[in-house]
This record gives sequence, C-alpha cells and structure tokens, in this order.
Amino acid sequence: MRVLVTGGAGYIGSVVTEQLVNDGHDVVVYDNLSKGHRGAVVDGADFVEGDLHEADKLRQTFTANRIDAVIHMAASSLVGESVEKPAKYYHNNVVAGLVLLDAMHDCDVHRIVFSSTAATYGEPESQPIFESAPTNPTNTYGETKLAFERAMHWYEKAHGLRYASLRYFNAAGASEKCGEDHDPETHIIPITLQAATGKRPHVEIFGEDYPTADGTCIRDYIHVIDLARAHILALDVLSERSAIYNLGCGGDGYSVRDVIETARRVTGNEIPVRMGQRRAGDPAVLIASSDKIKSELGWQPQFQDLGVIIESAWKWMQSHPDGY
Ligand SMILES: NC(=O)c1ccc[n+]([C@@H]2O[C@H](COP(=O)([O-])OP(=O)(O)OC[C@H]3O[C@@H](n4cnc5c(N)ncnc54)[C@H](O)[C@@H]3O)[C@@H](O)[C@H]2O)c1
Repeated sequence: MRVLVTGGAGYIGSVVTEQLVNDGHDVVVYDNLSKGHRGAVVDGADFVEGDLHEADKLRQTFTANRIDAVIHMAASSLVGESVEKPAKYYHNNVVAGLVLLDAMHDCDVHRIVFSSTAATYGEPESQPIFESAPTNPTNTYGETKLAFERAMHWYEKAHGLRYASLRYFNAAGASEKCGEDHDPETHIIPITLQAATGKRPHVEIFGEDYPTADGTCIRDYIHVIDLARAHILALDVLSERSAIYNLGCGGDGYSVRDVIETARRVTGNEIPVRMGQRRAGDPAVLIASSDKIKSELGWQPQFQDLGVIIESAWKWMQSHPDGY
C-alpha cells in the first residue's frame, strides 16, 4: 500500500514507518518537526515537511503519491500542558485533524488508522478496561482525542470513511534504529534511564499511598514494536469495516517502583529517587484489555516483559546519547 504517516518523525511514528517500509509498503512521512526529528525518518520513506493545517500541501501530497491510506499520529500529547492550554489541543488535535479528513475526502482517500489513547476513558470504574467502558476524559488531551474519534464516526456516516482507532496505553521501548527523544520528556522509562545516566538528578515518584501492593501507580506498558505491528494489522481491517481497539499488554501491569527496580537491574546503575505528591487525575491502576484486537486481528504482543522493554530503551539511549 501507499501510506501517509502523519507524525512519522515522532517516537511511535518512526517505528511504525520502519515496519511499513520493512514490509514493502511505500511510505510518505508528513511531519512539521515541531516535536519530531528529521533523523528519525527511516531510510526508504519519503519525507514531506508540512503541517496538518496546510490543506493544499496535504492534497498535493495525497495526489502526487497516490496515497491509499493514512496513519494519523501527529498530535499534541502532553497531558499537563493540555489542561493549561486547551486551545492548542483543540487546534492541533481536532481542527487540524478535520483539515486532514477533508483533504482525504477531496482526494478519495477513505482509510485512516488513528493514534488514540487510554486517556479517552478517564478514571475507569473497573479494570481491565474494555472498549465498551464509558469514556469520560479528565483532561483536554483525552477529550480532543475522543472528539476526533467521534468526527471519524460521522465522516464514516456521511462520506464512507473507514477508520481504526487504536487506544494506546503506555508506549515504551525502542527498535534498534528508532527510540524516544522528547523535549520535555514526560514518560517514566526514559526519565528513569536519564536518572541512571546522571542526566537527571533523580526520578520523582508521584505518590506512594495508592491502594496497590507497593503504594505506587500501576500502568500497562506496551513495546513500541508490538504497537507498530498493530497498525499494520489495522490497515487490513479497513477494507471491511471501522473499529476501535485498546492496545496494551494487559496482565497485572507494572508499578512505578517495578519500573525503577527493573531499570536498576538493566543498567546496573544507581537511580536516585525523590518522593513527591500525587498528581491530580492519576488513577491508581490503568490496565487495558486487548482481547478484542487479539481475537479479531490476531495481534499478539512479543515483548511483554518489562525487563525486555527497558533493555531496548536502554540500548537505544546508549547508541544515541544525545538523541537524534
Ligand atoms: N507515547 C505514548 O505513550 C502514547 C500513548 C497514547 C497515545 N499516543 C499518541 O500517539 C501519537 C504519537 O505519539 P508519540 O509519543 O510518538 O508523539 P511524538 O510527539 O513523538 O510524535 C508526534 C509527531 O507529530 C508531529 N506533529 C505534531 N503536530 C503536528 C502538525 N500539526 N502537523 C504535522 N506534524 C505534527 C510532531 O512533530 C511529532 O513528530 C500521538 O498522537 C499521541 O497522542 C502516544
């Protein structure tokens, strides 16, 4: 297929692009490099530096490359910032998303795989979280991702769009070539590894009085390579229907202390820890049920072990000490 990957110069987008290219697809990465890196665009993919708000550039890219499908990963995705700057999130995640959907419609591109998020659920009533759980986002980030999901639903009714919305839990790890290089970094695994190298003075634990075995929050980590594989499976389902899938590893998840202990073991380094207060809106446990994508698309995670996930991130960090 000829696939346009918006946000393909970002963390997850670079690994998705890598797998698409390895599988023999023609890929165009469309990214404004606001958060991504030119060096993260893998060899074999074309690159267009462009913004989602640029309708003409999108239409020209669709036509010139005869694009069959879009994987839409470009977004603003910092939860804290989203609460402080709701307009930025509505503009980038909803308004710009509509520009993309309209350009697709204008160019007869009717298939899209969308990077959604566990944040669409808010604070769930029960675990694990199924796709049928109520969606009650507790921040603007989750709200805008949900708004775009609903827009795709209505574009399907009006224009026959087919969409697969993938609600990711915590993406983590790296491939050999592509890893996580965010500024600011807000994800616990790279933060913990930066503390292991001395790039940060410590890692902060936000609350140790949660009703969990060690008192710290439990999350579901999914290896970025497993996540990328799901996008390629999701592209196939679009020839038949639209769908929404959770993507996590399930199981019992891992606590913040599990992450830090595992990183100590993997790196062999001291990792200083500082205790902090709970953050508003942080649920004690967030675990996905990924049964639906497993049974409908045959997706199976290959790298569920936290040690394996952290080892891959550590290896990438060592080969890219200053990022891209
Ligand atoms: N990282 C996670 O754990 C996680 C979890 C759930 C959902 N997601 C979603 O997955 C997607 C990818 O996440 P990531 O961690 O790789 O993020 P990222 O910030 O590394 O990548 C996003 C990319 O989109 C580009 N971009 C942003 N706005 C753009 C615009 N208007 N026009 C063109 N390009 C634009 C950025 O330059 C960047 O390269 C995002 O949509 C995010 O919301 C991520």
